[in-house]
Amino acid sequence: MDLSSYTPMGDKENSPFFDEYIQRIYERRHECGLDDIVGDMRGVVVSVENGDAVNYLAELTAMGPYRFVDARVSSTHRIYFLQSRPEFPRLFVLEPLSGEYEDRMTQWNLMYPLSARKPNARYVGEIYAADSLAAVREALEPQSIRFVYDGDSQNNLFSREHLGFTFLSDYTYNRVGYTDVDIDDLEALQLGDPLGLDADEQGKLERAAALQAEHGISDLVLGLDHMATRILAGDRESAILEYLTMVPYYFWGAYNIVEMNSSTNVTRHPDIDDDKKSPARVFTANNTPAFANSFENLPMPTEDFVRNFGRRMHHMAYAVIDGHVAAEKNVDYVVRQLSDMGTPFLADVVGECKDDPNLKQIFSKSSPYSMLITEYIERCHHYEGFFTRDNVASLTAAAGADERYDHGQVFD
Ligand SMILES: [Fe+2]
Repeated sequence: MDLSSYTPMGDKENSPFFDEYIQRIYERRHECGLDDIVGDMRGVVVSVENGDAVNYLAELTAMGPYRFVDARVSSTHRIYFLQSRPEFPRLFVLEPLSGEYEDRMTQWNLMYPLSARKPNARYVGEIYAADSLAAVREALEPQSIRFVYDGDSQNNLFSREHLGFTFLSDYTYNRVGYTDVDIDDLEALQLGDPLGLDADEQGKLERAAALQAEHGISDLVLGLDHMATRILAGDRESAILEYLTMVPYYFWGAYNIVEMNSSTNVTRHPDIDDDKKSPARVFTANNTPAFANSFENLPMPTEDFVRNFGRRMHHMAYAVIDGHVAAEKNVDYVVRQLSDMGTPFLADVVGECKDDPNLKQIFSKSSPYSMLITEYIERCHHYEGFFTRDNVASLTAAAGADERYDHGQVFD
């Protein structure tokens, strides 16, 4: 794919600054070797509060394709390792050993009224395959990307010999990680000492898997399709350009969702046959900041979310295999079954899948453990695009309507 001649999709306009620097970043990525030494996304990392991990694992098991494989314990965290298909990214769940645990991420969560409720619950970032961790640092540190070194974080997961992470991005509050060993080699990753589940914990996960199988959705929900971060209006272009500095993705395009005062911006891997092998990273931002929006008073669920929770990952989307169960589209069937199992959803499935290629999507309510919303997305009849404007507008509205700013619960 020739990035220098690619014209982004969608109708969201970018500044001359963005247009100039995106080309310079693509060129520099090539020159400094990053495009060659960094490969696909091999893992995603989510942190939960002390005591929430096994419940979160059970929720993941019932709602999607990820299954617990193994666990380790470090000096500060239990680290649970989950897998879907071998070619798709792994999921690492971090749980502090103590309810008193605090690091920089905890402190950032404590700054915002709704995330302060569970200050260790947050999507942390992605892990990319790299030929050499040292080479990635050597390429990116001169570009003002900062990496965690020993002593920088309470959590030593972020600075292992073969696993390293950037600082929390000032634009997204997410990290990017890199590893130069096999993502399944937990010894080489130096995650800590082996940790087993007890019989109660094991039973909880087995019951969740059995429930999913009974409801007939185990084979219908595939891997991660995309993950979407919400950021402030003024940080939109910087957040995208910073991400494209750190990973070999490209700016696929952006839609302007005028009536929600927001845009949805998509970055993708340019060189894979299936997005689920290295899922798209989406950035959503207001078009104008909250105080300026007050002149027009449009709904602005995106910046409301950021003001309530801080910049952070908003949802992870699972792809639903295209097809039917009897006369029902798969995504409708999956959502009906999950609802029967007790999963609450925001509004209804949006989009149409009749004869033309199109998309059907829905948001769950946010997890009480990870705070993340789960999206289910069915790309019907080989839909070529990534999003439709109308669906994004409906989903954005549904997520905004559910959010509550409640002084009583936050500050009591
Ligand atoms: Fe999404």
